[in-house]
Amino acid sequence: MQNGKFYKTIFYLTTNTLIITDLDIAKKALNANAIIAIPTETVYGLAGNAFSETAIKKIFELKKRPFYNPLIVHIKSAAYLTEVACNFPEIALQLAEKFWPGPLTLILKKLPKIPDLITAGKDTVAVRIPNHPLTLELLSQLDFPLAAPSANPFGSISPTSAAHVANYFKENLEIILDGGDCEKGLESTIIGFENNKPVLFRLGAISLEDIEKEVGKVLVKNHGNETDLSAPGMLSRHYSPATNTYFTDNIAEQIKLFQNKKIGLLLFKDRVEINGIDHQEILSATGNLEEAAKRLYAALHRLDKLSLDVIIAERFPNYGLGKTINDRLQRAVEK
Ligand code: TXA
Ligand code: MG
Repeated sequence: MQNGKFYKTIFYLTTNTLIITDLDIAKKALNANAIIAIPTETVYGLAGNAFSETAIKKIFELKKRPFYNPLIVHIKSAAYLTEVACNFPEIALQLAEKFWPGPLTLILKKLPKIPDLITAGKDTVAVRIPNHPLTLELLSQLDFPLAAPSANPFGSISPTSAAHVANYFKENLEIILDGGDCEKGLESTIIGFENNKPVLFRLGAISLEDIEKEVGKVLVKNHGNETDLSAPGMLSRHYSPATNTYFTDNIAEQIKLFQNKKIGLLLFKDRVEINGIDHQEILSATGNLEEAAKRLYAALHRLDKLSLDVIIAERFPNYGLGKTINDRLQRAVEK
């Protein structure tokens, strides 16, 4: 990708990574089995040809992701679903109709042409249509779907901007397609099916309440321990800052435990008037959970760069997207 003619379209340059908006460059790279970062409405993804084992191996390597953790396949349209999966429950089609393109991933029976590497040997495949104009346009110009996990090293905070991605992978990633800040800021909600009934595999950018409005009660399984790999996104430690992080119902009490330490706070809507706090991130001054969700990971990335001794995060209201935010913060603090 050091070909001179590409430099015309470079948006800006960090180390060796091209941060671009030109789909021709993105397409050429993907057609050559390279991995590029793509924007979606949830978080950035590390994308490669879902039908190419070579490309998929590169994704796992770059992300340092264990092979037991399967990838999501991103498709261009609901009509394309029949190219990757089969035996859809009626309820899956109903959810797809309502929420696609959008932050909903469905776990469906896979077709044989989906490589086992993508699905970690399972007979199901995770599928979604991302709702980002640049990535939708890219998908429409490709002959294959894109396998893409979130564009962060395994276990760390997901990226919601091109700069976050560049920071993580430096010269190991050649191309980032820059689609601006992610609109939703939380990963997709993952729904699977058992006996044609919906089952929650991961809380996400569509609230459980909104899914249930559409299809009635969703079974919530007690995931979260290291031995249950049915949805590794539910593994207890995940989405973690490098800084020691605490998650609490009582900010004032927690702060008292860290006197003379450099403390950063992650708060929903109200500042804390206590001396000795080094940095405060207020996610939504108006108390809007959608806004808080959109800003959550960027705030964690910022806090993590401040060389603090501790980050203390406040528990959010436990409904709507507050539930997903609490889920991510809980996983960020697991040891
Ligand atoms: O919003 C998103 O979903 C983002 C963007 C890039 O689309 N992607 C994302 O991918 O969050 P990743 O790899 O970080 O998380 C995908 C989750 C994993 O936790 C994995 O366990 C689950 O999807 N998954 C994938 N295939 C599965 C399957 N066949 N059965 C159960 N869970 C599966
Ligand atoms: Mg991830």
